[in-house]
Amino acid sequence: MRAVYYETHGDAEVLQIGELDKPACGDEQVLVEVAAAGVNPIDRRLRAGELQEYIQRTFPVTPGFDLSGRIVEVGDAVTGWQVGDEIMGLAFTWSIQHGTYAEFAPVDAGAIAPKPVNASFEQAAGIPLVSLTAWQSLLEFGQLGPGKTVLIQAGAGGVGSVAIPMAKHLGATVYTTASAANTDYVRSLGADVVIDYQKDSYERAILEAEPDGVDMVLEALLGDGTDEAAIRITKSGGAVAYMNNEPPDMPDIGARGIRAEFIHHRADGAMLSELGALYEQGLLPLPQTETLPLSAAVEAHRRSESRRTRGKLVLSIATL
Ligand SMILES: NC(=O)c1ccc[n+]([C@@H]2O[C@H](COP(=O)([O-])OP(=O)(O)OC[C@H]3O[C@@H](n4cnc5c(N)ncnc54)[C@H](OP(=O)(O)O)[C@@H]3O)[C@@H](O)[C@H]2O)c1
Repeated sequence: MRAVYYETHGDAEVLQIGELDKPACGDEQVLVEVAAAGVNPIDRRLRAGELQEYIQRTFPVTPGFDLSGRIVEVGDAVTGWQVGDEIMGLAFTWSIQHGTYAEFAPVDAGAIAPKPVNASFEQAAGIPLVSLTAWQSLLEFGQLGPGKTVLIQAGAGGVGSVAIPMAKHLGATVYTTASAANTDYVRSLGADVVIDYQKDSYERAILEAEPDGVDMVLEALLGDGTDEAAIRITKSGGAVAYMNNEPPDMPDIGARGIRAEFIHHRADGAMLSELGALYEQGLLPLPQTETLPLSAAVEAHRRSESRRTRGKLVLSIATL
């Protein structure tokens, strides 16, 4: 099968495209003919050699966790799925080899959901990882609901652009950070207040508007004092979901009863099905995608590294 892979860690140029053996389908997996694969920052971070203490690699590694496509094989222990079903899924594993930038990919049956009927395969491939991350952060961890306030950092990114409509759907008031070029985009997603972080200090803007702080921060940034600022702008008893790191060591966290955690997405087919239904019913807008062919995987990783992409970056692999 045609696949993108790397045989050594390095910059985007280590990505090659060529023929690899079709992966086997485990007993609790389905094998998917992949129509499209979502591109996420973790794909390029793993390629660069980060996170080796958590995630094992077997070379050659095909990157990618997000996928949409059609089931071509069903594992012996799998019930409820048939060959031919159109699905989306999160093929995340703590040991990587057979990722989704390929014509075929195995994925645990418990990590897939029906493709929303109103979504193209490209749109569906952009849903799983960021939607599960945002929902698990905002609802499960943050307990966001009507009347609450939230700051969603990097509102124009993959996570931010799905988190904004989710937070609105849950009834919250949404503050977000974006550059001037993305102000209209994040407003169209439902953001109530957009802070141009290149012009204004978001910390000052939040504390002027909400002197006691917001109920929750979804902290998608890392470094430059953002970890500590997230605590300072959170209300006593509020919550901070860190996307990239453990919380900072600040006495204020315990003293003010703030719940602060590194939230790592969890593959959860049942939750993905519930989210798929919200997308299908139009209660959440389908992700805006920028699509490149599989052969442009190097370019996709470079664009992801630029931190300037809007919405979801997706690789188109086959027309099914
Ligand atoms: N823990 C988890 O399970 C999990 C899951 C997914 C992602 N993540 C992490 O969460 C972060 C966001 O992921 P993503 O997929 O949303 O990334 P992404 O799509 O690559 O984010 C790109 C966006 O970031 C915005 N941005 C860049 N610098 C910014 C700044 N200083 N302030 C505000 N916005 C800024 C850009 O908008 P402008 O051009 O408008 O600045 C751009 O639209 C990444 O670090 C990723 O590794 C963690």
